[in-house]
Amino acid sequence: MDDKELLEMESKYCSWGDTVHYAKQLNIFRESDGIYLYDSQGRQYVDLQMWYSAANFGYKNRRLNDVLKKQIDTLPQLACQYLHEEKIRLAAKISQDIEKKFGVKGRVHFNVGGAQAIEDAIKVVRNHTGKIPMFSFMGGYHGRTLAATAITSSYRYREHYGHFSDRAHFVPYPYCFRCPEGKSRESCGLACLRRFEKLFESEYYSLVNPKNKNCEYGAFFVEPVQATGGYIVPPMDYFKELKKTLDKYHVLFVADEIQMGFYRTGKLWSIEHFGVVPDIIVFGKALTNGLNPISGIWAKEELISPEVFPPGMTHSTFSSNPLGTAAGLAVMDLIEDSNFDVDVPKRGAYFLKQLKNLQKKYPSIGQVDGLGLALRIEICQKDGFTPDRDLTDRIMNIGLGAQLTAGGKKRGLVLDIGGYYKNVFTLAPSLYITEDEIDLSVMLFEEALQKALGA
Ligand SMILES: Cc1ncc(COP(=O)(O)O)c(C=O)c1O
Repeated sequence: MDDKELLEMESKYCSWGDTVHYAKQLNIFRESDGIYLYDSQGRQYVDLQMWYSAANFGYKNRRLNDVLKKQIDTLPQLACQYLHEEKIRLAAKISQDIEKKFGVKGRVHFNVGGAQAIEDAIKVVRNHTGKIPMFSFMGGYHGRTLAATAITSSYRYREHYGHFSDRAHFVPYPYCFRCPEGKSRESCGLACLRRFEKLFESEYYSLVNPKNKNCEYGAFFVEPVQATGGYIVPPMDYFKELKKTLDKYHVLFVADEIQMGFYRTGKLWSIEHFGVVPDIIVFGKALTNGLNPISGIWAKEELISPEVFPPGMTHSTFSSNPLGTAAGLAVMDLIEDSNFDVDVPKRGAYFLKQLKNLQKKYPSIGQVDGLGLALRIEICQKDGFTPDRDLTDRIMNIGLGAQLTAGGKKRGLVLDIGGYYKNVFTLAPSLYITEDEIDLSVMLFEEALQKALGA
């Protein structure tokens, strides 16, 4: 069927309630390979978002695909109440790795989709603490189920669905380029964190009874590097400082690694950069390189041991499906055989250097930053600060239009937009991207920017 017919059908029969119609330019893709997507005319697009960091290990990764093909021919389906080898080995690998890195024992519980794993984390917290309210960050994103929406700051996601009595207490994230306190990083003394800490001083600030140190909130749900919020890297000492307060008041620390996990930032878990031990880690997306929607949580033994979290506490038909666990295990094996600890920071540093060079030429690039291969380009007006959402949209649509010629042939560029003002390109390229491919990406981006500026 050709694209025209498909688009006509789409406009009639597909709900527009997902995110497809955020963009003016609607693209139908037919094939993918490595860092590339291809449309029906065979045009090549460099993909710098890799399914919001779900396909970290490249499209059509042969090793991972072969494992999945083998699993289809051996044990493709199995009800989750029965056991299979891949589930057990995957849970063990994740738990053993966390024990080695953080020195804590724990267990893994699988589910499907990131938001549903977030729900499981909320259940574990509620079960352990008996508390319903949670802390989370302004600009944070934890998914679109009702409970995940309640801890996601954007009111737009809640406004049509009634009152959320379990709505989180949203804390300003240390977004230093647009400091919530109007200060500069060099001299702020973590002012945003100090403001949060102050709330624990008196019962009249609403969070805590300082006499018995009982806090009304059960856990703080944290994206160590804020993802949808615009790939914002916090000051390296921030979480260590935050955790001191949380520990004092027995508030659990939940690291949402759904987007930043699996080496996006140069480590398996992004929280590893920040010198704190989480109580719960939530993961999804790249666990299977996007080949299966399996997700999960790891929790400390005291939160999830069979004594406190017995059979039936949570369940979904597809939760530890054998195709997902086989793909997840293959990803963990691939990681073991790779050198991502070195390669990702190296590739990320190279990419960031090229972006910084570009920033020198264009005042509209207000900030570039990143950790590993989680990179951000903040698009602004000529003053380098006022967010320019229109320009950001124009660049994205030009990329999707596939008329760029940098690199010698007609190509497209696939970019994702995030950020509080929807003016940030959140770059999540394949972890295997080469220096030549980075050079090509930067050339294509510059061409799209020039065209959008009307230069
Ligand atoms: C940090 C984070 N948490 C949770 C989610 C929700 O995951 P899913 O879309 O698989 O439900 C996302 C999705 O983008 C995410 O980035």
